[in-house]
Amino acid sequence: QDPNRQKIVEAHELAIKFYHYLLNNTKQGDRAKQYLRDRGMSDRLIDHFMIGFAPDEWDVLTRFLTGRGFDPALMEKGGLLSAKNDGSGYVDRFRGRIMFPVWDGNGKATAFAARIINDGSPKYLNSPETMLFTKSKTLYNLHYAKPAVRKSKQVVVFEGYMDVIKSWSAGVKNGVATMGTALTEEHCSILRRHAEEVLLCYDGDDAGQAAAYKSIPMLEAAGLKVEIALLPKGKDPDEYIGEYGPEAYMRDIVDEPVSVTKFKLIYSRKNHILLKEEGRKNYLMEAVEIVAGLDSSTEREVYLKELSREFDISLDALKQDCHSIRMEQQKKKPPGDNNDNSWNNGRNEKRR
Ligand code: UTP
Ligand code: MN
Ligand code: MN
Ligand code: MN
Ligand code: MN
Repeated sequence: QDPNRQKIVEAHELAIKFYHYLLNNTKQGDRAKQYLRDRGMSDRLIDHFMIGFAPDEWDVLTRFLTGRGFDPALMEKGGLLSAKNDGSGYVDRFRGRIMFPVWDGNGKATAFAARIINDGSPKYLNSPETMLFTKSKTLYNLHYAKPAVRKSKQVVVFEGYMDVIKSWSAGVKNGVATMGTALTEEHCSILRRHAEEVLLCYDGDDAGQAAAYKSIPMLEAAGLKVEIALLPKGKDPDEYIGEYGPEAYMRDIVDEPVSVTKFKLIYSRKNHILLKEEGRKNYLMEAVEIVAGLDSSTEREVYLKELSREFDISLDALKQDCHSIRMEQQKKKPPGDNNDNSWNNGRNEKRR
């Protein structure tokens, strides 16, 4: 038990209560509260996630913490304060922002994500990396999500804090988000410790879809089964809930995910102009290649039949191409490849 670490957690816990109080009980806080209201957040939700407000002043938290005997130099190391340029002391790191507390997987308060009210840059200011907070290993909301994740063996991964929070209020209790970084291998192995299955629920823009596409092989390599929830173009989960309501969100988005193969087919399709013969041909080749990677011959046939029907190509021709691509893929795979389940009838091995 490093006493410094303990102090930093204590300071975060105090700061969370302090900022939450200022949100609810000050004039400046009213504006932040109204912003949260306009974004559809109830008092209950604000309380549950202990959302707060850091006033637009230089040293409210600095004075509050030093008044309680905390060493400002240590608080700077913990990411709550900033050292002044001239070395004459410390100021608050977060000013004029809505404060989202970040707890680690064990429920220890270790960081903040701070959003600007309305528009501005940066939109979110996160705590710096500290001895207690590493972005590449942190999943927002994991401590709250754990029981529901354990129970369902499934975890929903979002891009943003607001997506986690609004989805929570819609009924998704097993949601987490990365902290403004791409999913890392560390994230994947943490997820694997608690879940068997991941539902990716990224923003419906190109960046979100590309991020989902990149995350799939990493999650699969960690031994997780993956499904993808698709959002309409340009909407994120929070916006979808705001526009269509929580019931439609649960029914049409969360409960209707697509398989990895389907997602890859949709993704590839968007890169080709299907009205042109060349585009159709290229898409078909890519599609057959995607399908060839499937270990179940039944599944392969299901997708090939769909392609055969839609593009009016004989199933035999598709099967033949699929078979030869599959042979090529098998040759390229190193022996003992983790994802190659063809030797044990598709059963997942190596569950840690
Ligand atoms: P988005 O731009 O999709 O933001 O970035 P958002 O979650 O929809 O934010 P709202 O709804 O406008 O409040 C997704 C995530 O990327 C990180 C945050 O984790 C954010 O939730 N991010 C984004 C940052 O860390 N800093 C930024 O300036 C922007
Ligand atoms: Mn409260
Ligand atoms: Mn986004
Ligand atoms: Mn978003
Ligand atoms: Mn959003």
